[in-house]
Amino acid sequence: MIDVNEMMTRAAGDAYPMYDLVRSAGRMLWIEDMQRWLVTGHREALAVLRHEKVSSDRSRWDAYELPRGQDRPPGGMFVMDPPDHTRLRALVQQAFTPRVVERLRPRISSLVDALLAEAGERGEIDLMADLAAPLPATVLAELLGIPAEDQELFREWSTTHVEAIDPVSHVLVSEAGMAARAALQRYLEDMVARRRLQPRDDLISGLVRAEREGDRLGGGELLEMCLLLTVAGLETTANLIGNGVNALLDNPDQLERLRADPGLIETAVEELLRYDAPIQLSGRVPVEDIELFGRTLRAGQMVGVILGAANRDPEAFPDPNRLDLTRDPNPHVAFGRGIHFCLGAPLARLEGQVAIGALVSRFPRLRRAGEPRRRLNVHVRGFASLPVAL
Ligand code: HEM
Repeated sequence: MIDVNEMMTRAAGDAYPMYDLVRSAGRMLWIEDMQRWLVTGHREALAVLRHEKVSSDRSRWDAYELPRGQDRPPGGMFVMDPPDHTRLRALVQQAFTPRVVERLRPRISSLVDALLAEAGERGEIDLMADLAAPLPATVLAELLGIPAEDQELFREWSTTHVEAIDPVSHVLVSEAGMAARAALQRYLEDMVARRRLQPRDDLISGLVRAEREGDRLGGGELLEMCLLLTVAGLETTANLIGNGVNALLDNPDQLERLRADPGLIETAVEELLRYDAPIQLSGRVPVEDIELFGRTLRAGQMVGVILGAANRDPEAFPDPNRLDLTRDPNPHVAFGRGIHFCLGAPLARLEGQVAIGALVSRFPRLRRAGEPRRRLNVHVRGFASLPVAL
């Protein structure tokens, strides 16, 4: 009998040999048992993610069932197609351009300095709890305008929620996940109501303004957007920092290389994203039958795109299982591709570069201080705990 727990633990622990196995059976494979396509090849992943006749709207899936209590699939623009997707994305895009994000650098650096100063005094820390999780939560909370005393709760809800999302169908698969979503939603509803009365200089107030300026944000869309940013931006960035540091500790030669040449940090973070991506899976549904690489993907079928597998495809990346911080070009798909390319990529990159760069340069004796514990989730890949000594 298959022990699901054991299988999940193994896949979450080291998913890559399993991906290689699937890819060797077919780079784009119909799995009858799962009633899904699994895409593990890089060029196949790009072709699906960029295809015009492929939808992100999971309700187009033949077997889709609307989650209880919802009147449309949750996920905001994540699960929308043009023209609605285009309109919503344009509204928040301006808050996340590389130029706007670059202005956050001093604030991000000082947050990292403060977290590392505290960590340095203790000598041993849990990298997740003490650096990787609080940094993105604080940055996003400040952008949205959420007060410091609520950030812990905010983080907890978003983690529970995001882990309960089936990445391919985007359906919430646990009661705990639904409860966390409801709590997060109530909290944000309250925030939005307060900003409606008294706007400030934050992202929620900006969205409230956009809502007032005509029909650019419809019923519920503002709230959905705030929810989406929370769900999309916290755990992912935390896992970039956690998975990244873990990969460096597994590859001391690369860690030394970065320490000797801090100028490598930009290509280093791209390689860390490729090597152990925080989001491993995405999903799409063809809206009409399409031919790709000699296969027919039928309208209404679910297509699971395994980003983590595409990132280790030997046809796209020479020696794909080797961590090479100077890898260039590095066309990884950790942020997806096409019109849904991660909106928060400039912010995530900046946070990753500042946090990992500072940790490595400031603590030359950085090493493990116990067994890391991975989360048992094959979609959101990351650690529950990662003890390190400084
Ligand atoms: C290392 C950290 C991150 C990773 C690995 C990541 C990954 C991704 C991926 C793979 C997608 C595309 C999903 C798809 O096509 O189905 C995506 C979309 C998105 N991400 Fe990120 N993300 C990260 C950080 C962030 C941050 C910090 C934010 C915002 C604060 C954010 C906001 C979004 C949004 C709003 C979308 C939807 C874009 C659209 O549908 O047009 N992400 N992200």
